[in-house]
Amino acid sequence: MLTYAPPPDKSITLRALLLGAVAEGRTVIDNPLFCDDTRAAVACLRRLGIRLRLSARRIIVQGRGLRGLRPPRRALDARGCAALCRMLAGLLAGQAFPSAITGGASLRRRPMERVAEPIRRMGGQVRTCRGGPPIRISPAPLRGIKHRLAIPSAQVKSAVLLAGLYARGTTSVEEPLLSRDHTERLLRHFGAKLLRRGRKWIIRPGELKGRRLRVPGDFSSAAPFLTAALISGRGLRIKGVGVNPTRLGLIRTLRRMGADIQVAPRRGFPEPWGDIRVRPSRLKACAVEAAEIPSLIDEIPLLMVAAASARGRSTIRGAGELRHKESDRIRSALRLLKALGARASCRGGTLEVMGPCAFRGGRVSGFNDHRMAMAATAAGARSSWPVTIADPACVRKSYPGFFADFRKVFG
Ligand code: S3P
Repeated sequence: MLTYAPPPDKSITLRALLLGAVAEGRTVIDNPLFCDDTRAAVACLRRLGIRLRLSARRIIVQGRGLRGLRPPRRALDARGCAALCRMLAGLLAGQAFPSAITGGASLRRRPMERVAEPIRRMGGQVRTCRGGPPIRISPAPLRGIKHRLAIPSAQVKSAVLLAGLYARGTTSVEEPLLSRDHTERLLRHFGAKLLRRGRKWIIRPGELKGRRLRVPGDFSSAAPFLTAALISGRGLRIKGVGVNPTRLGLIRTLRRMGADIQVAPRRGFPEPWGDIRVRPSRLKACAVEAAEIPSLIDEIPLLMVAAASARGRSTIRGAGELRHKESDRIRSALRLLKALGARASCRGGTLEVMGPCAFRGGRVSGFNDHRMAMAATAAGARSSWPVTIADPACVRKSYPGFFADFRKVFG
């Protein structure tokens, strides 16, 4: 059986860096991810006066406490990372100094009012530029609010909870659809006063304490390998990967499609991780409902590749959020499948994919979007002709070694 170990988790590394910066004392992040997004976070934190020591397998963050950040001399550059931009906005809204967060051309197209609006309701002074970055923040006292997420987004939830660390009174965030809970797990690990009441997270202000943690492998980086193995009828063992249930919607869906996938959690604090084993399986079509979308938000292009390899007509409902990712992923995924010779469409917000089809391969666009380039590469595991990506550098955003690893596993 083929084996593979994914790189460390991007979402968890980002959050550990941010929380470590505003915690008191030292935070040791073992097995952090180094990629464009996490390097952008390190650079922003350094501009905020945080000392970080980086080595191949560890980052040490010298935290300065909730009010210890220093005023940056110019706008902070989140480069292409929307999660960084949004979560930083939450942290900076409660500081006693003005700041601005900007980013590259791709980030400037991403919607930021979704975080600015609740922070404003907390009393924060936050302006966006026609709804996007740069985000300009002026000092203002924050007060707790009750917020119900209109968009199921872990980034918005995280930004409001982080602002809640600085607010007078309690802040609650209610999420009708469950999204990834890494911020909540880490906040608790760092000693935050955070409670859960059903679908509500409730936070009270209070200092965080620097901690040690080990980052598990990134399920979203492992997902193209898992999908490639399945559609090409091979078995694969994925080692040391995060198995947080809020991230595993792809596995639950693939199982319903007939995939033989076993998850063996090994360790579990503050994040569960373990091994995943995939056995050759025959896939049939799936029906995915809106409530499941947040748990597989980054894996939908891959799911569409799997659906195009499966027997029957698959439907994916309520995936409108995909329009606001690094590319409009509904448009990019439909174009990709078409280029590969598959049949797919989007009607009234529902994606439909017809299978099975034999992918034809060839040179395709990655749409300057890491997840699209990886989905196209995964499809190549089953195409009659090799798939090559016109803009391969986009994978550096989350997984610089992606193509080398893919070749190592699948030859
Ligand atoms: C992320 C949350 C998701 C995901 C993104 C990373 C995070 O975005 O698509 O790649 O780290 O919180 P939304 O929460 O906006 O859906």
